[in-house]
Amino acid sequence: MTKQNNFDTKESNPGERVHCACMIKKAVYPGSFDPITNGHVDIILRGLEIFDQILVAVLENPKKKSLFSTKERVTMIQEIFAENGNIEVKSFHGLLVDFAKKNESTMIIRGLRAISDFEYEFQMALMNRKLDPEIETLFMMPNVDYSFLSSRLVKEVSMLGGCLAGLVPGEVEDKLRNKYKTAPKTNSI
Ligand code: PNS
Repeated sequence: MTKQNNFDTKESNPGERVHCACMIKKAVYPGSFDPITNGHVDIILRGLEIFDQILVAVLENPKKKSLFSTKERVTMIQEIFAENGNIEVKSFHGLLVDFAKKNESTMIIRGLRAISDFEYEFQMALMNRKLDPEIETLFMMPNVDYSFLSSRLVKEVSMLGGCLAGLVPGEVEDKLRNKYKTAPKTNSI
């Protein structure tokens, strides 16, 4: 294949790995998504500006206590993107690099909200590269409006009956209210 300079990547064996624009197709966007927030949605939509397909990979981790079951988390994301044929949702367990390879992708997308995310993300990206040198991680920044947003805080706000408007998609807000048996609330400001 003819090399295309702007997309060439070289690891330890120069010339062995050649990536060009025509090969960039599917990216894996992994996470716990317990639950998916508008920050995640923003990253997925930004990802679609770069890739033809985004495969949302929902971590199935029996050791980590989640509010929503794996099936609930997958279904919520599928519902949110029901109209978008370029977004696929699957659960996974085991190594992310194995999941990516099995699903014919070498690209992983991760969102970076703030510097505080960086260290953990940097370690994970390099560990994934160590496990599989063909895997590349692409960091994307969400809209600044979501830079404070996390699934953990969304759960806390919901549990305490706070307003979730603008933080999570409507489907998720309903499911959270159901879980915590809280009534819909609007901001008082
Ligand atoms: O939304 P999260 O919880 O920050 O997502 C973390 C996730 C799912 C990306 C990470 O825990 C992961 O990739 N788990 C799979 C296990 C794995 O591959 N570990 C080795 C690489 S560090």
